[in-house]
Amino acid sequence: MFALTGIGHLVTNDETVGSDKLGILNNAALVADDAGNIAWVGKQSELASHFDGKPYDVGGRAVIPGFVDSHTHLVFAGDRALEFESRMQGKPYAAGGIKTTMAATRAASDAELTANVARLASEALASGTTTIEVKSGYGLSVLDEERSLVAAKTATDETTFLGAHVVPPDSNADDYVALVQGEMLNACKGHAKWIDVFCDRGAFDVDQARAILQSGAAAGLGTRIHANQLQQGGGVQLGVELGVASCDHCTHLSQTDIDALAGASKTTVATLLPTAELCTRSPFPDARKLIDAGVTVALASDCNPGSSYTSSMPLVIALAVINMKMTCDEALWSATAGGAQALLRTDVGNLRVGSRADLVVLDAASHIHLAYRPGVQQVRAVIRGAKTVVGSL
Ligand code: NIG
Ligand code: FE
Repeated sequence: MFALTGIGHLVTNDETVGSDKLGILNNAALVADDAGNIAWVGKQSELASHFDGKPYDVGGRAVIPGFVDSHTHLVFAGDRALEFESRMQGKPYAAGGIKTTMAATRAASDAELTANVARLASEALASGTTTIEVKSGYGLSVLDEERSLVAAKTATDETTFLGAHVVPPDSNADDYVALVQGEMLNACKGHAKWIDVFCDRGAFDVDQARAILQSGAAAGLGTRIHANQLQQGGGVQLGVELGVASCDHCTHLSQTDIDALAGASKTTVATLLPTAELCTRSPFPDARKLIDAGVTVALASDCNPGSSYTSSMPLVIALAVINMKMTCDEALWSATAGGAQALLRTDVGNLRVGSRADLVVLDAASHIHLAYRPGVQQVRAVIRGAKTVVGSL
């Protein structure tokens, strides 16, 4: 058993304990059991009847659920700093840069790929990410996609097969789509929970994406899609048609796309990735319009060496609030419970009784400070499964 007390501001994402969607309690305490799950949440004055050991007093700080980063590409080698530098001098971002990382990834050993995943997953953990999805997609051959997923699996169970990231230079589109649906899917499906397709300019079209996602679903994988990042197209509507768990990016949307996402708000989340817009100098998605239309929105980092080389969910939250007009409450919900919904998880992203005791102690009085103090390290401790894995209490 483990208990925290002296929590000045506790975000539970449990509407039944607090007055709103974030389920905020002041002067709160919580208890976790030996299996690492939340056993009790309530007022600190009531803790004694639920816990008889010595609780950790967090001194009035805020406690929030650990972030659920539902979209990352951590399996790669090398970096693209020079591409970033020339982009900052005016060269536009294009999907083709993926091939640069593909070459470095194919040349890297399994140990190098695994070490890079571990480095980035621990960087993410240090900024409060306790659940992370990791995609393949820089191998683009049967062998290299499979070993990318084996590397991803060392960091998380939320692994995604993204063989359909781009067509590699040594193949043509028709042959490659057939390979992804056949031999590559067969080699990868045992290491992946999800399948994803980059459906956009310079990558795969709607018909190719539909065929690949349907094959993945038939093989037992959950589905998600990169859609409408570089231009308005049919990706979001395909995602809704197929009932994918999440349509990701959603940067360029028509009213029909928004209506489709709103109509599917119970089954399909729109995952927004504002650090990708930041780092490619692209327009931010219209989060306000999406939320006002009734769309369920998640926030994630898209951590990858091309369009968004950051794993910082606090930065994502700050951008969502400052540049995308999400409220501080909406941004925190989307980075925790929203990410969980995008992964079809109910046991993370909230601090309800029975959920994982995955939480962040902030060196701040409330979650508002995440956006209010952009770029400032405010994570005092990260607890995962009731164990302190970053910082100290
Ligand atoms: O999500 N959009 C496709 N894939 C990545 C970028 C990959 C890269 O540029 O290396 C993304 O932004
Ligand atoms: Fe991505």
